[in-house]
Amino acid sequence: MSRPSASIFARLSVDLGERSYPIIIGSDLLTDVELLRSIPGKRVAVVTNTVVAPLYLERLSASLNAAGKQCIPIVLPDGEEEKNADNLMAIFTALLEQKCDRKTTLLALGGGVIGDMTGFAAATYMRGVPFVQVPTTLLAQVDSSVGGKTAINHPLGKNMIGAFYQPQMVLADTGTLATLPDRELSAGLAEVIKHGAIIDAVFFQWLEQNIQRLRARDAGALAHAIQRSCEIKAEVVRQDERESGLRAILNFGHTFGHAIEAGLGYGEWLHGEAVGCGMTMAADLSVRLGYLPVAEQTRLHSLVEAAGLPTLAPDLGESRWLDLMEVDKKNEGGQIKFILLKPLGTSVITTVPTELLSATLNACTRS
Ligand code: NAD
Ligand code: GLY
Repeated sequence: MSRPSASIFARLSVDLGERSYPIIIGSDLLTDVELLRSIPGKRVAVVTNTVVAPLYLERLSASLNAAGKQCIPIVLPDGEEEKNADNLMAIFTALLEQKCDRKTTLLALGGGVIGDMTGFAAATYMRGVPFVQVPTTLLAQVDSSVGGKTAINHPLGKNMIGAFYQPQMVLADTGTLATLPDRELSAGLAEVIKHGAIIDAVFFQWLEQNIQRLRARDAGALAHAIQRSCEIKAEVVRQDERESGLRAILNFGHTFGHAIEAGLGYGEWLHGEAVGCGMTMAADLSVRLGYLPVAEQTRLHSLVEAAGLPTLAPDLGESRWLDLMEVDKKNEGGQIKFILLKPLGTSVITTVPTELLSATLNACTRS
């Protein structure tokens, strides 16, 4: 059966000197043999999972072969709870069994879980091998595939073991979003909303006007949301690759969100759901500090809700919340740092008085 030919909507660049790389956004990129020819090396280990493999592995593998590459599939179990040391080791074992050398490229075919874990494997296998991201969820196309943060989870904290390791290219095939469950699409919208809220009020307003088109998977709306998100993220990463300051704003909603994910057990709430709810909590805290007008808090709350995301947090109990938020890479000297809006479209990184944090936890959690 003949496949539609690839159509490229946007080519962006993450400008990091000799570690610069392209982000290519388009449809049917998985079958674009010319594009796949530009992947480094002759052997490509495709790391994916049991959900994505039946959908896209055969197609990608055939195109890689047509591009003169040998495809070595590594299929892991699916789920956030699988982003762990056992599966990292499973990647290394497969690579060693297949006698993969330093010139073998690791290609992540999947969502953020596969992308983060494969990136960390690429950073550490034989002290570093080439890495390519082929994100297949909205969340991964707008966020996790860009910027070089790679990690696995630890039972005591999310993404606690990892490395900064940039891919050599990101190929975001928007055609893969056709098979994404609605709940996962909403989870991806959380990170899109985040980009507008922290940095671009005009984009935020566009999202308010187009949220139903996005949820209906309108191709033009999705392409714009992916492109604008990648532009915003690429610019932040260009300025602060290793998060010595500015990049922390990309964690808006994540201090609360990571606590929800670890507190309920990984996989109970999706990462994007936890971030969506976490953003409404951070907005509540921003209002309490006098940074954000109530009307803008309401706009954020409404947009998160309209995206199909939860806005009421689970009641973990205040001491458990604090315990979980104290295990956060942004923290220094035991003080919890928050990304707050000051106002919508602009963000600040700050510590907060304990009584205001308690008030937010009370106001935003299910009792
Ligand atoms: P995920 O990788 O678990 O994917 C979500 C689900 O969709 C999974 O079941 C997956 O198998 C399935 N799936 C993937 N592509 C599909 C497709 N095209 N059709 C049907 N099903 C498909 O979750 P995610 O939301 O993509 O990523 C979340 C992870 O990303 C978290 O671990 C989070 O910490 C991480 N993350 C990392 C960064 C970063 O900068 N590195 C940024 C944001 C999030
Ligand atoms: N998702 C946060 C970051 O990439 O910095």
